Amino acid sequence: MVKPIREIFKAQTLMGRALRAPRDIVLRGPLTGIRQGQQRFRKEMLDEQKRLREEMSGIYEELSRLRDEVGNLSQAGTGLRIPEKFKKHAAHIDALGTPAETGAMLIEYMCQRLGIADLGKTDVLDFGCGCRFADAIVNKELPIGRYTGIDIDKEMIEFLSRNVSDTRLAFYYWDVQNPLYNPNGEALTSNSSLPVGERDFDLICMFSVITHQLPDDAENLLRILRRYVRPEGRLFFSANIQDMDGDYREMAHRPTLHSAYSAAFLQGLLARTGWKCLSLEGKTPQGVPIQDSFLCAPV
Ligand SMILES: C[S@@+](CC[C@H](N)C(=O)[O-])C[C@H]1O[C@@H](n2cnc3c(N)ncnc32)[C@H](O)[C@@H]1O
Repeated sequence: MVKPIREIFKAQTLMGRALRAPRDIVLRGPLTGIRQGQQRFRKEMLDEQKRLREEMSGIYEELSRLRDEVGNLSQAGTGLRIPEKFKKHAAHIDALGTPAETGAMLIEYMCQRLGIADLGKTDVLDFGCGCRFADAIVNKELPIGRYTGIDIDKEMIEFLSRNVSDTRLAFYYWDVQNPLYNPNGEALTSNSSLPVGERDFDLICMFSVITHQLPDDAENLLRILRRYVRPEGRLFFSANIQDMDGDYREMAHRPTLHSAYSAAFLQGLLARTGWKCLSLEGKTPQGVPIQDSFLCAPV
């Protein structure tokens, strides 16, 4: 008699608290009391199991709902994660917000200057694009007609091309020389062509690009961009204007780290390259992190 009892306990331990033991072991005579106890225990366990299963199914439903919600949020809010190494703006700008936030601020300011609510119907060329506007447009879901970004940072453009799936946005690498960002690129001339084919745009913008150019390159760029704007289109760009004796000077030890120009020189440059200045605003208007900014139309 001792042996079957030992087997029952062994089965209880092995098979999970007596759930299966009574089915597997034949019990006789004096073991009836034990069997009844086991059956009662088994029934209680099954009831408890059922109750837990129902509770768990409610929890799974709630989990699945939350997972969908998180999934939607992550697609809307963090769809594009820009590696730190591709961030081009000055470090002090970070105090004003994330790159997507300061990018959105700049876009909003530019729209204000253009007299439009947003870029929902605009075909934009962002020249020297960096990552900020792509970050803002994708992660803040800003309205955009079409957005074309051009930059001389190959690795960054490849990253954006691979990681931005919205087909309204496209990115192009342009291998031209800049002392700071691409010293080994091809020499820039006024006849150089942008890598976008036969295109023209409603709006061409350059944020913190002329602030990193030698005077000849600034002139060439303005001349080149003129060929890519629609007749009713606009050019919006920032530049660092300083009072100075000459036309141009570097504000830091390294060429094009902080290129500054006189207002007269830039106005002359615009006139020479086929642009008319519609408005010029000073630095940080309404606290927006931007240098002096020009709104221009093609002449
Ligand atoms: C200070 S970052 C500004 C980036 C972006 N516009 C923004 O505001 O966040 C200057 C950018 O201009 C690009 N750049 C400089 N010279 C260029 C040129 N000749 N053609 C195209 N991009 C240029 C640099 O590679 C860099 O990404």
